[in-house]
Amino acid sequence: MATIKLPGLIDAHVHLREPGYTHKEDFYTGTCAALAGGMTTVLDMPNTSPPTDTPERLTEKRALADSKAVCDVGLFVGATSDHPTDSPDDAYLPVATQACGLKIYVSETFGSLRIDELGLMHGFFRTWAEKAEQSGYRSADQPQGIGPIAVHAEDMMLPVCLNLSQLYAVPLHIVHVSRRSEIELIRKAKECGLPVTCEVTPHHLLLSADTLPQLGVRGDMRPRLATPDDVVALWENLDVVDIFATDHAPHTMEEKNKPEGTPGVPGVETMLPLLITLVQEGRLTQDDILHRCYTRPKEIYGIPNQLETEVEVDVDQSVELSDNQMITQSGWTPFAGMTVRGKVTRVILRGQVVYDGEKVVASPGYGTVLYAR
Ligand code: NCD
Ligand code: ZN
Repeated sequence: MATIKLPGLIDAHVHLREPGYTHKEDFYTGTCAALAGGMTTVLDMPNTSPPTDTPERLTEKRALADSKAVCDVGLFVGATSDHPTDSPDDAYLPVATQACGLKIYVSETFGSLRIDELGLMHGFFRTWAEKAEQSGYRSADQPQGIGPIAVHAEDMMLPVCLNLSQLYAVPLHIVHVSRRSEIELIRKAKECGLPVTCEVTPHHLLLSADTLPQLGVRGDMRPRLATPDDVVALWENLDVVDIFATDHAPHTMEEKNKPEGTPGVPGVETMLPLLITLVQEGRLTQDDILHRCYTRPKEIYGIPNQLETEVEVDVDQSVELSDNQMITQSGWTPFAGMTVRGKVTRVILRGQVVYDGEKVVASPGYGTVLYAR
């Protein structure tokens, strides 16, 4: 048995579904799944019910996470058309420093948070830039600032967001990039010095629309699985990719099977074994994982160090992924049937064993909520 030790890894894009959708996941089940996947920090998205779009709702969500999470959690605030931020008594200003960043859904997604009006978009970027004048942007050396604007912006919406980011000098993080046109444009934007970073998911790196006949409803997510050429482009441009994040988007199989469906796939507990398998196949290096699941997310979101924290992985163990191994409340994985090499055998967080290779042994509330003031 060859065991490697990694730092506590970060999944910078998860949907833990609380409040409102706890039949899919909650802060306890989702963070248990994260620990089983070697993640000791997750950043949670705002498209809950109600959405996290006011200071009060962020405070309520902080309390839920604080009492239930077993790993550390950062929370995004979300842009909604109900609470535009371009008024002088802007709702986000008091809370921006307590969130990982501002999430804007510009493209088709699950839930009701989509913003596709230039007036609103402009207002959010302007407000975020004004807030940054007061507090600066967060970095490893400047933990008090505010985070980036993270956007789900596909296709033609991508240049719109890049442009607003440039005009307002607001750091922009593009979530789950899936297409050649997008990754190539991000490369160009970085070459021109724009303050842009991006992430890709394991499913967009490993699956394409060609696998949809086998995957069925398990292959339905936003962005949709792209062409094999798009997948090739993500691999060709890996140097432009700052973060690997899962977009862990649990829905029950019953919901997935309904005619209207629910886009999104769980992923927080399968990312590390999949990436380690790619290392063993020679397609990635261990440094690629460390850079994109630890160093860069820490820098981009100003995530503090976790002392006495490590993840042990037996890289010789082969595991056939299956639905019934999954800890996520949703109880399935789009990678079922795939054999991976790499099993998380122990996770230590702040000096305590929190996952022993079989089960989570931390009590609810052991995790902390980031960006407290
Ligand atoms: C996400 C969800 O279910 O919350 N679904 C998805 O297909 N990715 C929403 C999102 O990230 O767009
Ligand atoms: Zn998402």
